[in-house]
Formats: sequence, structure tokens, C-alpha cells
Amino acid sequence: MFIGEGPGADEDAQGEPFVGKAGQLMNKAFEYIGINRNEIYIANIVKCRPPNNRNPEDDEAEACLDYLRNQVLLVKPKIIVLLGSVALQNILGKEFKITASRGKWFNKKDIKYMPTWHPAALLRDENKKLEFIRDLMIAFNESRMI
Ligand code: URA
Repeated sequence: MFIGEGPGADEDAQGEPFVGKAGQLMNKAFEYIGINRNEIYIANIVKCRPPNNRNPEDDEAEACLDYLRNQVLLVKPKIIVLLGSVALQNILGKEFKITASRGKWFNKKDIKYMPTWHPAALLRDENKKLEFIRDLMIAFNESRMI
């Protein structure tokens, strides 16, 4: 399972997560690694598009967290990839920083979490692509072993 931040304009229009530019880049990474999007489930912290693509406020995230908890209960993932700091901080805690946490495993309630860059960050900084691919490969290797 993957958890992103919230829908952008394209996702809002299509009602699907990660179908815009960031999603297309993530699809390329999936193709490169040999992952089919049907094998995975993608959710977001917030379900409505924050105005002007700003980060969701704490109360907005809180309002959507029960929905996300139910998605996790239904999907029963063993591994969750957290895409970017909004997902990281809302799931593991505000004290976590994406720069220090990405690429490492965190365990919470029988689920293994792998934080990594949000794909939109790769659009701004090419150097993050290799780390993103590496983090996904580690997560997928693990998911195929457990
Ligand atoms: N960014 C996100 O965090 N989620 C999406 O669904 C699309 C872009």
C-alpha cells in the first residue's frame, strides 16, 4: 500500500489518486522496477484537494484519518510506503523528518513502513530519483518475501 498527501487538480477531476504528473513519474518508476499498478493500493492522507495545492492542515488530515484507517483495515497491507513528509508525519508522528527517515524501515502495529520522497519532489529535484527507486525496490523485495 502507498499513502500520498492529497489529490491534485488531475486527481480531483478523475477521482483517482496519482494520475497527474507526479503519478505518471511514479508509474515510470513502477515500470522500471517491474511493478504492476494492479498489485498495489494507493491512498491519500486527505481525500479533498487543499486549495492552491497547499499542505493539508492538521484538522483536515484528522477529519480524513478514519477513512484512511478503514482503507488500511480492508487492504490489510504488510508494507506501507509513505510518500513524502505529510504522509510520514500524519502516520508516524510530527517529530519524523523525511530527509532523515526515508529509506529506513519503521514498524508500527504489525505493519512495516518505508518512508520515501513524494514523487512531486522528484519533479523538482532529479537527484532524488535514484533514492526513490532504491526505496521502492527495497519495499517491493520485502513485500515479495513476506
Ligand atoms: N499527490 C498526492 O499526494 N496524491 C495524489 O493523489 C496526487 C498527487
